[in-house]
Amino acid sequence: MTVPMNDRVCYFGDGVYDVAMTHCRRPYLLDRHIDRLYRSAALVRIGMPVGKDELKKLVGDLIGMADDGDLLVYLQVTRATAPRSHAFPRGAANLWLTVGPRKIAGRDGIQSVITVEDERYYLCNIKTLNLLPNCLAEQAAKDAGCDTAVFHRGERVTEAAHSNVHIISAGKVITPPTDNLILPGISRARMIEICAEEGIPVEIRPFTLEEMCAADEIFTTSSTSLCSRVGKVDHTDRGMKDPATFRRLQDAIYADFYRQTETE
Ligand code: PDD
Repeated sequence: MTVPMNDRVCYFGDGVYDVAMTHCRRPYLLDRHIDRLYRSAALVRIGMPVGKDELKKLVGDLIGMADDGDLLVYLQVTRATAPRSHAFPRGAANLWLTVGPRKIAGRDGIQSVITVEDERYYLCNIKTLNLLPNCLAEQAAKDAGCDTAVFHRGERVTEAAHSNVHIISAGKVITPPTDNLILPGISRARMIEICAEEGIPVEIRPFTLEEMCAADEIFTTSSTSLCSRVGKVDHTDRGMKDPATFRRLQDAIYADFYRQTETE
């Protein structure tokens, strides 16, 4: 397998990607990930080289070839292969699909996070390959002995380095709106649906760092970790004050994952 040296991803990070998880060789919420990949591509004017049904079949074939049933499915499309020049070249987009062994994260972990000023651009709703600020923030968290970083623009909490972030206050889940400052997480969308099924109220609105630090619970959602609790922010104990609501929601989210992947 070779990667073209002039793939525009090498020069410009000129591409988009998506990540889905499988269990028992069955992908979780794959249609939604494929829809988002096409949406991301359209937003940066990349023409997808295959149709959705063909892509779904390719993903299915790849999953079938793997040795394991628990996988991370990575889908990437880049604009073209061409000598370096900023304006778009002619040429077909490059599709890159990989699967690798990966189990969904356990539900008992408690994350410690640092807060980092969000200095990213205004295209955070698009799942592009331009992840340098996310990598810098994640490494800063590791250097501080923590798990991940939560971004904020001034007082407003946006999202985490590779997940969405939410709080629970007075029994209600509060989650930021899907504007251009955050990725519209597939797990976030499913979490909101599950809250409705569980009768847990949800408020979609921005929240501040101060609110997050005072919240009863803080948690992240992502495809690889589903729903993960936060217990420390900037080395100070936070959240962890409404285990009943958090566990009810987390259990329902994990149950949904296993129901959709274990059922024939
Ligand atoms: N990350 N926000 C950012 C910046 C992300 O990178 C991700 C996902 C999310 C959560 O999105 P979803 O629920 O659709 O996974 C939010 C993936 C897992 C990654 O880059 O590895």
